[in-house]
Amino acid sequence: MEDFSLPQDSFFLGFDSSTQSLKATVLDSNLNIVTSELVHFDSDLPHYKTKDGVYRDPSVNGRIVSPTLMWVEALDLILQKFLKSKLDFSKIAAVSGSGQQHGSVYWKNGSAAVLFSLDPKKPLVDQFGSAFSINESPIWMDSSTALQCREIEKAVGGALELSKLTGSRAHERYTGPQIKKIFETQKDVYENTERISLVSSFMASLLIGAYACIDETDGAGMNLMDIKQRAWSKIALEATAPDLEKKLGKIAPAHAVAGHIAPYFVERYHFNKNCLVVQWSGDNPNSLAGLTLSTPGDLAISLGTSDTVFGITDDPQPRLEGHVFPNPVDTKGYMVMLVYKNASLTREDVRNRCAEKSWEVFDKFLDQTPPLNGGKMGFYYTEHEILPPLPVGFHRYILENFTGETLDGLKEVEVKEFEPPSEVRALIEGQLLSMRAHAERFGMPSPPKRIIATGGASANKSILTCISSIFGCDVYTVQRTDSASLGAALRAAHGYLCSKKGSFVSISSIYKDKLEKTSLHCKLSVTAGDQNLVSKYAVMLKKRMEIEKRLVEKLGRI
Ligand code: XUL
Repeated sequence: MEDFSLPQDSFFLGFDSSTQSLKATVLDSNLNIVTSELVHFDSDLPHYKTKDGVYRDPSVNGRIVSPTLMWVEALDLILQKFLKSKLDFSKIAAVSGSGQQHGSVYWKNGSAAVLFSLDPKKPLVDQFGSAFSINESPIWMDSSTALQCREIEKAVGGALELSKLTGSRAHERYTGPQIKKIFETQKDVYENTERISLVSSFMASLLIGAYACIDETDGAGMNLMDIKQRAWSKIALEATAPDLEKKLGKIAPAHAVAGHIAPYFVERYHFNKNCLVVQWSGDNPNSLAGLTLSTPGDLAISLGTSDTVFGITDDPQPRLEGHVFPNPVDTKGYMVMLVYKNASLTREDVRNRCAEKSWEVFDKFLDQTPPLNGGKMGFYYTEHEILPPLPVGFHRYILENFTGETLDGLKEVEVKEFEPPSEVRALIEGQLLSMRAHAERFGMPSPPKRIIATGGASANKSILTCISSIFGCDVYTVQRTDSASLGAALRAAHGYLCSKKGSFVSISSIYKDKLEKTSLHCKLSVTAGDQNLVSKYAVMLKKRMEIEKRLVEKLGRI
């Protein structure tokens, strides 16, 4: 049997450049966590004056951006934190990372030279001040490109056609529509741009001191890549902006090496000059890797700044809702995913309004209210939502005489408010019911074989119990909720092995039968809920989808 072991005494570093922070996790060759660090944008880099890591532009409806330079400064800061904690950088054999998906960076003409000649005596932030043709990167929370989305869909033969081609219909946050908007509204900026990176390939570019490729997986979050060919789609490129292909560069598989670490990092932090930088990818795909999702039927729910639900499949059927991406640790398979914009910040909003700003009170309310909430059901959008596409607003209903047995004769009455405990349950049940309904519609197995929960809110037992009652399956959790940086570190190890072997090796050959002894191990947290309750939720869910459809017809976009 071939030896797929990682070199003893070596480390693998994984970053997660997310909306609110930059995190990093170091794994050893037994896949156990050595150390981790975090830079929180609002509090560690207050001079950028972000709120939750972003700027919400009041003058343009739905425009949400982040200062690109803040991400640059965060990289030096997190590495300094590791220096202080005496991390031995010379042991790091490979680095990779996760980027918040869809966000884009616009490199000004001539910036390749800046990247190539970094001075280790000066911090990165002093060297990239004028490297970007736009200083504020559009990010995944942005919803200002509805017009461009319609135009792109029309040009390729409709929303479903675009989804079959690229894995998703056009979405406001997707990079293609964002690029199109920049081309249409700031032509000089577009012309002054020599390269467009995703957040993932941008951070990899900093680390290798050259433009890194976009990887096949995160590339599928742009409405520009043919998901079957894993190559740029000519028709999608043409529908977006002229001369785009050369600004995007090539696409690389996620397990490929982007380059060696740049001399800047060798001199400043004492990385080994042979340290490999493996292609970065999106945060959700890397979470899939970090959660070791391997069997169709396993479902992951990530509860964070965005909530996402994802699973794997060999035979994806792209639809109008949801997304299909190549699996980042497989050369042939795919992952399917649903994304919600109203997630932890919306949970915080309800906590602040109804639960004395305390998670303890929030949990107490969740525990003391009955499942099904006496027929009280709500839709809570503090941000313009993606799934379903609905504007900011709250909609609350009471299902009169709801027993959970049948929909016949069931009437809903719209109300202005619920008492605080019911409001908390209506929010959590509403978010999870929507996930179950849309996952079923997207063809994900029901009930799932098991759910692996991750992200900040997965530490909350009351929420996990709701997941098991609504989905009707066992719920597992991971030791660490930062699965995107953990997944990135695992992918660094995977890319390292593929590079040493000179060909793709299966990810499972790294952990073989020792998964239980690693930091990637998932443990059973809540067993499947009462099946009778699961079917009652199925009835509630049908009603919810009826109301959702009506709301979209009235307020949203179809
Ligand atoms: C995925 C998405 C979000 C971001 C969050 O499509 O928009 O989950 O990746 O970082």
